[in-house]
Amino acid sequence: MTPHFAARMARVTPNAIGELLALGADPSIISFGGGYPDPTLFPVAALEAVFSEVIRAPGGLAMQYAPSDGLPRLREQVADLMQRDGTPCRAEEVLILQGSQQGLDFAARMLVDPGDVIVTEDPTFLGARIAFDTARPRYAAIPVDADGMRMDRLEEVLTTTPKVRMIYTIPEFQNPTGVTLSLARRQRLIDLANRHDVVVLEDSPYRQIRFAGNPLPSLKSLDTQGRVIHLGSFSKVLVPGLRVGWALAAAPYLDKLKLLKTAADTQTSTLNMAATSLFLDRHDLDAHIADLRHAYGRKKEVMLDAIRRHFPQDVTVTDPEGGLFTWATFPEGFDATVFMRDVALPRARVAYVPGGSFFPVDPRPNHARFNYSAQPEDRIVAGIAALGDALKRHA
Ligand SMILES: Cc1ncc(COP(=O)(O)O)c(C=O)c1O
Repeated sequence: MTPHFAARMARVTPNAIGELLALGADPSIISFGGGYPDPTLFPVAALEAVFSEVIRAPGGLAMQYAPSDGLPRLREQVADLMQRDGTPCRAEEVLILQGSQQGLDFAARMLVDPGDVIVTEDPTFLGARIAFDTARPRYAAIPVDADGMRMDRLEEVLTTTPKVRMIYTIPEFQNPTGVTLSLARRQRLIDLANRHDVVVLEDSPYRQIRFAGNPLPSLKSLDTQGRVIHLGSFSKVLVPGLRVGWALAAAPYLDKLKLLKTAADTQTSTLNMAATSLFLDRHDLDAHIADLRHAYGRKKEVMLDAIRRHFPQDVTVTDPEGGLFTWATFPEGFDATVFMRDVALPRARVAYVPGGSFFPVDPRPNHARFNYSAQPEDRIVAGIAALGDALKRHA
């Protein structure tokens, strides 16, 4: 039989990076590839206790179906988290999602027809592109510098490009570059979105993990017209395996997102929502996040210090104020995919994510993303030293 796929499947294809990273799963390889939090910091005992308690809830409530928009108590707790972070938020404006990834999928389904334009940072999160691609958009990719997405280029694109439906941005400690959108650019972005009547999709899974610099207002908190859809997640601040995230959006968008949620999977796992909610009631999430900030801030220093000592001088890296990643720029002509396949994996026994796949329009091969959260400090140093050695010998 020859399978006949819908047209929207044309861009649903495996990518070479997935295959390379699968090789990186070999335990003898030091992987800086995945965006994994440090598993030694997972609050195992607390989660064990809350799961065991919720599973015995009267009437089997935590094992029953739940409302599509999420457990009411959890929606209140998310609203409270958002408010304490400076973003006005009511429980009714919150939709619980199966990870913020689900919000990326829904946003594109809700707003984008084939051929419409999604504006992204250049480079941007690969998982977002994978989610957006089924809507068959065109991309307009805006360069990023040390202050995040460049607003002069955004203005140019919004002025000259028809059918822009959404500006997708990761304002804090962006994946993959680690950079943060400055306050002035946040204000300008909202201003441009208002003027050109475009929705802003604010993807903020790393926002709470700031270990340097001052917190900046979320785009949602600067939104005066209800055009920012904010996505948050418990993946990086609790555990990704819960698959619990959320969207905060104005009613017209939230209503549609809720219908997409029912269509996609009825609801997020009741058990996982109930456990997350009880964790928030019984434990101090802020204290846990303070531990994460401390640990990841240290690991970032360890990695950057090792890079400065071991990499060739012509390789530059970003210095993030939070999050999980730094972004390396190698000299023109260097191909990070080829180097990983031919040298880094087989000889240095180190994996990273070659940067090419993060560029939605024009892949640039001389970049790579390095994760510093997942590996212990001694393996960060050993991996970077081995890679630096290989770079000096083989580049
Ligand atoms: C920028 C960005 N958005 C969304 C996600 C998805 O996270 P979640 O686990 O909440 O689905 C990730 C995961 O790494 C991410 O880096």
